[in-house]
Amino acid sequence: MITPDKVIILDFGSQYTQLIARRIRETGVYSEILPCTASLEEIKQSGAKAIILSGGPSSVTESGSPRLDPELLELGLPLLGICYGMQLIAHNLSGGRVSAARDREYGRAEFEILEKSLLFDGIDPSRTHTVWMSHGDKVMLPPEGFTVIGRTKNVDVAAIADSSRNIYALQFHPEVAHTEDGGVILHNFLFKIANLNANWNMSSFVGSEIEAMKKKIGDSHVVCALSGGVDSTVVAVMLHKAIGKRCHCIFVDNGLLRANEGEEVVEYLREHFDLNLRFVKARDLFLGRLDGVEDPEEKRKIIGHTFIEVFEKEASAIEGVDYLAQGTLYPDVIESISFRGPSAIIKSHHNVGGLPDVMKLQLVEPLRELFKDEVRKVALELGLPDFVIWRHPFPGPGLAIRIIGEITEERLEILRRADKIVQSELHATDWYRKVWQGFAVLLPLKTVGVMGDDRTYEHVIALRIVDSLDAMTADWSRVPSEILANISNRIINEVKGVNRVVYDISSKPPSTIEWE
Ligand code: XMP
Repeated sequence: MITPDKVIILDFGSQYTQLIARRIRETGVYSEILPCTASLEEIKQSGAKAIILSGGPSSVTESGSPRLDPELLELGLPLLGICYGMQLIAHNLSGGRVSAARDREYGRAEFEILEKSLLFDGIDPSRTHTVWMSHGDKVMLPPEGFTVIGRTKNVDVAAIADSSRNIYALQFHPEVAHTEDGGVILHNFLFKIANLNANWNMSSFVGSEIEAMKKKIGDSHVVCALSGGVDSTVVAVMLHKAIGKRCHCIFVDNGLLRANEGEEVVEYLREHFDLNLRFVKARDLFLGRLDGVEDPEEKRKIIGHTFIEVFEKEASAIEGVDYLAQGTLYPDVIESISFRGPSAIIKSHHNVGGLPDVMKLQLVEPLRELFKDEVRKVALELGLPDFVIWRHPFPGPGLAIRIIGEITEERLEILRRADKIVQSELHATDWYRKVWQGFAVLLPLKTVGVMGDDRTYEHVIALRIVDSLDAMTADWSRVPSEILANISNRIINEVKGVNRVVYDISSKPPSTIEWE
């Protein structure tokens, strides 16, 4: 099997680091993010064929800011520094000079190519190009051996190159969509400067991950947390291919699932794969522990811990289980465990942040490096059906984080009914496939309405329907008003206890997709 060429991105805390990884993978080259604290040895061991230094919020002129091992620049690997990465190069090599921020610059700038360079191959040098800036400091003088290959109105040294050492650096961000020709620049770096092969695809991923899991797991048994979503289904099918019946899937009914959640997927898996599959009914345990709990983080922690407890109990009943498999994705990892600290923890996702400190089982997380759209490609590669592939994400803590405030049987029932209508109306049009996720949220307040001749005083349902690529950012979907009207009418008419429906028109950031 071919080992794909790999690019290592050293993360200095930029909000765009994951975007760099995505952009590179989109070209068919495998990329991985390492914290900027990774040792030189680790970087060498990683088998990287090229290195990218990400941007970051710090200033190289301040003590305590993240540093670069100067030897990294001597490894002979093609290297591209972006923003803070560029400043680090200038700061570390002799002759370079970086000035501390006087005027910060965010947003569009017009970039002018000054010198012919492989990095700008195919880009018209006779006109300026829009680029995206986000910086305070700037490079005043390039290090010895470097040429200034581009500038903007505010930044005289906006791009530098030492083609003899294959080191390039840009003050702007080629990874963001607003940078015109950003894709061409990354493409040139990967294929014309680093001479990499585009040999990363989902088929090679599936093959190499299955091999890696076989090796890691050995003769042990694995319990797999199956939720019915595309992520855990893909994990279960891959594990089944790797270790067959030694994979024991566990589906937990925690009492917080929506109507039919998971059931059709479980049915499909039973029919098409000879999986070891067990249902655990733990509704009373979960709801009992959540009784009276209103705080979102507390809900998440209780659910996460209870999940693991249930798994461990189930696992202890099976001989030889040493591992727990989960469908954790890259955005969960990034949002929960910031690589170095600059990006604060936003919410503790239950399949990462909620793990108890003493885990008796080791983790198997084959999708840990993937984005959702990549998982969907894996599902396609595995031959899974559309209804699995295109299933909207459903959070581990389930309806608990869509009932604002206390969770009661009555509230769960109202939300389940309303949500079923949202799902069926989205399915009835092609909007289910168009949007990232659509669901109902039950608000902890009642409002006045009028039904027939009677005054009502009942619950409010909020609709959350969003567009997104990977859940890192999202915007509210511009769903046609007729569809919204149908959903609203049906919920108010069919769900007893609801007399008002509102539509959430907030983007992420600053809001999140889920309400808690
Ligand atoms: P937020 O609310 O953070 O959600 O914008 C981003 C995406 O993640 C899903 N989500 C979760 N998934 N466990 C999960 O497996 C969780 O604890 C969790 N919280 C949020 C959410 O539905 C959205 O797709």
